[in-house]
Amino acid sequence: MSVTVRVPAKVNVQLAVGPARPDGFHDLANVFLAVGLYDEVTVTEAAELTVTCEGPGADQVPLDRTNLAARAAELLATRHGRTADVHIHIAKDIPVAGGMAGGSADGAGALLACDALWGTGASRAELLDICAELGSDVPFSLVGGAALGTGRGEQLRELAVGGDFHWVFAPADGGLSTPAVYREFDRLTPDAPAPEASPALLDALRTGDAKALADTMANDLQPAALSLFPSLTETLAAGTDAGALAALVSGSGPTTAFLAQDAASARRIADALLRSGTCRTARVATAPASGATVL
Ligand code: C5P
Repeated sequence: MSVTVRVPAKVNVQLAVGPARPDGFHDLANVFLAVGLYDEVTVTEAAELTVTCEGPGADQVPLDRTNLAARAAELLATRHGRTADVHIHIAKDIPVAGGMAGGSADGAGALLACDALWGTGASRAELLDICAELGSDVPFSLVGGAALGTGRGEQLRELAVGGDFHWVFAPADGGLSTPAVYREFDRLTPDAPAPEASPALLDALRTGDAKALADTMANDLQPAALSLFPSLTETLAAGTDAGALAALVSGSGPTTAFLAQDAASARRIADALLRSGTCRTARVATAPASGATVL
């Protein structure tokens, strides 16, 4: 027997970052928006826990117990007094190490899939708890839609979204390590203020106003990502020149994200980005997308 779960990528339309905490994490005001690029995670009963992965960048995905999908299966199994004897297959479409929560998506997907396969019947609260143990972005991968994440990003308040937003995502050649980007943030921002969500940005989401969202989007990690990956400046400029309402680095990068006025404009921006030669590929996607869903 098998269960397949589809899980969306995310973009942070606001990522406000405070100073490093004693535990090494940073307090955030993290406005997550789920976007319609998906990984599919299939779990199948097996003699032991194994992981395989296919799709772009699959060769960079660890297939051992450090994979968040494997860790999710083990955490759920341990809590329910069983062994995690499943084969996990990840069909990857979310850019790997791209700042779009691809690894977190696989963790949330495997968790939901194992819960269904094993008939564990874990409550939503227990699933969210396990997600938070797996990583700061994993609870949002389960929930989807839009949410404000506080604490290290794992404490979620779901947000209303008043319409569809049209995006273009440009994965870069290569990845960025999230801890390295946070370290660079600390170096560049010795006196970071306490993070706060922007009321104007939350309004823009609520009313579905792309122009207002473009005017209020902000990523505090962007200077650090650009410092470690300077060529992203050219990608951002290429998308802006092609008519993007706003351009920013997605999360810790190096994927760049472009907000478009409508679907036709998004396609034009994607074509221009491809022609610019400043990115590996360019993908259009709409938001908000649903969270992890059993297919
Ligand atoms: O929670 P997660 O394992 O995804 O975090 C990966 C790394 O990103 C952490 O080890 C930390 O270096 C950094 N991080 C942070 N503050 C956060 C979230 C992540 O410093 N709120």
